[in-house]
Amino acid sequence: MTTPTADSADRPTMTPLTALTCPLDAQPLVRDGQSWCCADGHRFDIARQGHVNLLPVQRKRSLDPGDSKAMVSARQRLFALGGYQPLASALADCVLALMDQEAPLAVLDAGCGEGFYLRQLACAAGEQNLSLTAAGLDISKHAVLAAAKQSRDAAWLVGTNAALPLEDACVDIVICAFGFPVWQEFARVLKPGGHVVLLEAGADHLLALRRILYRELKPARGDAGLSAAEAAGFTISGEVGHLHAGLSLTSNEQIRDLLTMTPHLYRAERDGLARAEAMTALEVELHAELRVFSLEGVQDKS
Ligand SMILES: C[S@@+](CC[C@H](N)C(=O)[O-])C[C@H]1O[C@@H](n2cnc3c(N)ncnc32)[C@H](O)[C@@H]1O
Repeated sequence: MTTPTADSADRPTMTPLTALTCPLDAQPLVRDGQSWCCADGHRFDIARQGHVNLLPVQRKRSLDPGDSKAMVSARQRLFALGGYQPLASALADCVLALMDQEAPLAVLDAGCGEGFYLRQLACAAGEQNLSLTAAGLDISKHAVLAAAKQSRDAAWLVGTNAALPLEDACVDIVICAFGFPVWQEFARVLKPGGHVVLLEAGADHLLALRRILYRELKPARGDAGLSAAEAAGFTISGEVGHLHAGLSLTSNEQIRDLLTMTPHLYRAERDGLARAEAMTALEVELHAELRVFSLEGVQDKS
């Protein structure tokens, strides 16, 4: 890793992506003071913390979609333990390796949560004296608020992967980490030759916890999602990267946080949950699979 130079310290590593569109009529949004507006007069106010809500009510399947406030807080505390850092570093290295060194990279983190992976990417880019324009989008208003409170350098958007409030062909890379890929939408917002960097749970992810929670472990999901990617025009590039890291949980509260930030809290059998909730220490393995998908076409660097 290189040390940032005085020059790079002066220059922001990450600036907000501005190619936003109206979630109601897909027209371009233009900044007008503390709002984003489209030509038809739809207006979206920028919150005090800097994020903007571009999720219209008709796109909501519930009153409070996505991760709850409790899930977001639990994930933040768990990330602060450092165990997920190797995953974030590997994802950042993968994204930066796809970058043309001369042009700033436009990145969307689709399902960004509280912004952990995008912030790590900005740090890694800074260390290499590279710059990004970036948006982090999540359907959870709690996650986006938490992201905006930690960094003003990206466009933080409440929105849905199912109808991204972004112009066609405006990003080089879509990151989707432990999220919900919508391949047709990812293809629409990517420039020709752009990439999706997908981080997903591997077969051994949280195995020690799952062995406590479930009498029978489900087999790994297989390649079901990959055919959807191909149907949207993506090809898989290179090998699957298997990332392994360890997480040492040393209190009952930390184990509870891990349960809270995963779907296991709702899925697990009652006696399994009771066993996990009674524990005061647990070593768990993190296992993620990192894949790069590429769209056909030469990337326009102009
Ligand atoms: C497992 S969390 C991962 C968050 C983040 N990428 C991370 O790894 O820290 C999944 C995230 O996807 C969000 N989400 C769920 N459905 C979504 C959708 N349709 N569009 C965008 N985000 C969505 C949730 O609110 C949640 O923050």
